[in-house]
Amino acid sequence: MFEGLTLQQFCALDCNRNMVVTSGPGAGKTRILSHRFCFILLTDYTVAIPQILTLTFTEKASEEMKARIYEMLLSMERKIGKDGDDFLLKRVREARERFHKNRISTIHSFCADLLREHPVEAGIDPGYAIIHGTRHRNILEESIASAISSLWKGDKELLMPLLHSFGGRNNLIRAIRNAIDHPITFQRIMATRDRLFGIKGWADQVFRDYCSYIRDKDVIPYFEGLKCQGNGKYEAEELKALFNNWQGMAEKDKETSGIPHLFRNLRRISDEKGPLKRFPAVRYGMRKISYPDLVDEFYPDLFYPQSPDVIFENELNLFLKVAKGCIDQYRMEKEKINALDFSDLEARSYSFLAGLYENGDADLLRRIQQRYRYIMVDEFQDTNRIQWDIIKMLCSRKDYGGRDILHPG
Ligand SMILES: Nc1ncnc2c1ncn2[C@@H]1O[C@H](COP(=O)(O)OP(=O)(O)OP(=O)(O)O)[C@@H](O)[C@H]1O
Ligand SMILES: [Mg+2]
Repeated sequence: MFEGLTLQQFCALDCNRNMVVTSGPGAGKTRILSHRFCFILLTDYTVAIPQILTLTFTEKASEEMKARIYEMLLSMERKIGKDGDDFLLKRVREARERFHKNRISTIHSFCADLLREHPVEAGIDPGYAIIHGTRHRNILEESIASAISSLWKGDKELLMPLLHSFGGRNNLIRAIRNAIDHPITFQRIMATRDRLFGIKGWADQVFRDYCSYIRDKDVIPYFEGLKCQGNGKYEAEELKALFNNWQGMAEKDKETSGIPHLFRNLRRISDEKGPLKRFPAVRYGMRKISYPDLVDEFYPDLFYPQSPDVIFENELNLFLKVAKGCIDQYRMEKEKINALDFSDLEARSYSFLAGLYENGDADLLRRIQQRYRYIMVDEFQDTNRIQWDIIKMLCSRKDYGGRDILHPG
């Protein structure tokens, strides 16, 4: 029955283990998945068709997989019919007859079903329509355009710095669309922003971290390389003296490790020597580092007249404000027609399951989990973080230390 498989493909059928199959394009991963579906039916007599959840990347792929597996069941039925194993024949025939109950679908269809089955718990109106394709794009674009134009009418000055730093309207719109397409990530960014910017003196902390980063990544390696050079040239000696002096400073200045002081001196020397008479680079392991390059790289950030971190804070806040305006507008448009898009399906399913998983109704979560004895995902490399979190919550539990453990299968 499985004789058409290579040895490696055959080994990947072992359904008692959680496994990931990786191989080049066209090597037979999807084929393994279909065979594994049949293999599970033949080796685990306690499992029913709807208990094998199989997620594909597109609707087309799920239709193809259904057709392929149905064909395989038919062919198995014919073969077993000839061999005369009555028990197995009954099992395969039943599987084929109940095949319409299969749960082979895209993750979005899976989420749509999950939400429709638990509208109250998931907090949605079960009569919702799913918008996708051109209709989705049109509503989205119109919402963004209308939100931006009312912001523009209200306060041009608000948008100007953003348009400037994004390099134009189209780039800004692309970034907003991205935020809308990843609502959970967007929420996380908002939460991180609130946490970070809520810390008093966060910009000073970032500056201190930046100084230690420069010290470890470049200054110390450069100094080590310089010490090994020892060619006695005047310039090398001058630099060594400067770095020795810095070492003393670094010990006293716990805040910034004397990095601004060092870079002021390096800048002075590189200015004096001029760009053509650059000091040759020192070697450190595989790297070649020259001090004027260090100055060029870090000096602007260290001595920018206004702290880049504060500029970043202002622009991030501005962007989040504009994106939030667009998201609200888009949400209103969807509410008018009681519609959810693919991102909503994912985000709502994620929030619903996360609520149950973290601290909610453990019985309901267990019932949902128990529906699926096996879960298989095709094109797993294209699964995004939220989708993976949804899948994990369908088949994990927390151990006593609060870590997630995947159930076998
Ligand atoms: N052992 C095999 N014997 C015969 N044909 C095979 C075998 N393994 C794979 N094939 C065939 O090779 C083709 C590609 O297989 P499949 O679609 O499963 O590959 P894949 O690894 O999923 O590809 P992709 O990376 O594009 O998703 C299919 O037509 C499949 O039937
Ligand atoms: Mg494939």
